[in-house]
Amino acid sequence: MGTLIKNGTVVSAESSAKLDVLIEGETIAAVGQGLNEAGHTVVDATGLLVIPGGIDVHTHLDMPFGGTTSADDYTTGTQAAAVGGTTTVIDFALQNQSSTLKEALEIWLKKSDGKACVDFSLHMAVTNLHGTNGEETLNEMEEMTKAGISSFKLFMAYPNVLMINDELMFRVMEKAASLNALCCIHAENGSAIDVVVARMAAEGKTEPHWHALSRDPKAEAEATHRAIALADMTGAAVYIVHLSNEYALDALEHMQARGARALAETCTQYLVLSLEEQMPGKSWEEAKFVFTPPLREKRHQEPLWKALADGSITVVSTDHCPFTMEQKALGRDDFRKIPNGGPGVENRMQILWHFGVNAGRITPEQFVALSSTNPAKIFGMGGQKGRIAAGLDADVVLWDPNKEYTLQAATQRMGNDYNLFEGWTVKGNAAKVFSRGELVVDNETQPGAFLGATGRGRFVKRECNAGGFA
Ligand code: URP
Ligand code: ZN
Ligand code: ZN
Repeated sequence: MGTLIKNGTVVSAESSAKLDVLIEGETIAAVGQGLNEAGHTVVDATGLLVIPGGIDVHTHLDMPFGGTTSADDYTTGTQAAAVGGTTTVIDFALQNQSSTLKEALEIWLKKSDGKACVDFSLHMAVTNLHGTNGEETLNEMEEMTKAGISSFKLFMAYPNVLMINDELMFRVMEKAASLNALCCIHAENGSAIDVVVARMAAEGKTEPHWHALSRDPKAEAEATHRAIALADMTGAAVYIVHLSNEYALDALEHMQARGARALAETCTQYLVLSLEEQMPGKSWEEAKFVFTPPLREKRHQEPLWKALADGSITVVSTDHCPFTMEQKALGRDDFRKIPNGGPGVENRMQILWHFGVNAGRITPEQFVALSSTNPAKIFGMGGQKGRIAAGLDADVVLWDPNKEYTLQAATQRMGNDYNLFEGWTVKGNAAKVFSRGELVVDNETQPGAFLGATGRGRFVKRECNAGGFA
């Protein structure tokens, strides 16, 4: 006996059609018109869209950072994802500079063990190379790909913590090219930014607002161009994470037009929040918005939306890295000590739908592409997730385009105590969420509750496909 979803509109990255969807066990068994109801539990999806479960490829769960640890562990973080219609996350394992990639992987698998509630995968952040010419670590990259990790993260910012130099980046890119793996880049010129940061601190500019002003959009553009140029020299495919502004977008498009195998994501916060509106420089409360890259001037938003519509940016993620206000207070008197990061995984689909589709900036099909299908393909799991098609995991969301929903900390599942979009009412929300065939969220009858067992989420092994360019 399966679950038969009837009367809904199935939306793919290409088209929409009235189709039935049959789920048997953990997979989608059939998609078609007039599927036979006999023996199945029928779910009536009249008025609803049937879309593939969201995939957020940029989260930081249980991550030590800025002298503390992000406020969502694998349980609360993945439950929050599910409640908002996201059924897979890709989190980051971070290599400790003195350790191996294998040790980092073990640490992150332990963090997730028995805790993840939806499926997840990991990128591996390389922060140091060991052995002659880095060979020990570079060889480990191959082992990582065998373990299902097909993307490597490099930070061009956060000096003395995570930042790498160009030599390391180049060597990792060469290796990634030989493995068909994808290089994910936090692109900001960390050295230049640090000069500005130190000067501001010396001038007594300590409020959260200065965090944003210390990180010029051009420092992001410069690093974006450098990363793509170096990747192009090595033949590696590259994916720029959390691209936040028009200058960085120019750099991306410039290199894309010249044939570089370059992809990018932006995040919900850069699409709808701004320096002028959220961080006018008046209060400590602005620490809520201290993340990196910072909020930009409002004029950068429309170019990002346009890039989503025309395909130069192909993914919307969140960079979910929540901290409570108590944690943020580590930097009460010095913005340099405020843990960088904000919450978002629960609200990605709602924000993208409301400000994208409802506002006429993107189509429902583009919404599906940006939130699920493209992330699956780019990150080497398109054969398992990201589409409503027979044989794939039954990660299925019944999306109610007319449901009004107010985003607020009081009712959110995310583990911190504020919401970036506090009090905003959006139209469009997940009504029911199936993860590998199991109904894990029913926002129609039990809003905000996670109905599955803790620890049911599985690690997803991903293929090396050079971001889909291979
Ligand atoms: O502020 C942020 N984004 N924190 C998480 C680490 C990163 O740079 O992605
Ligand atoms: Zn980053
Ligand atoms: Zn991040």
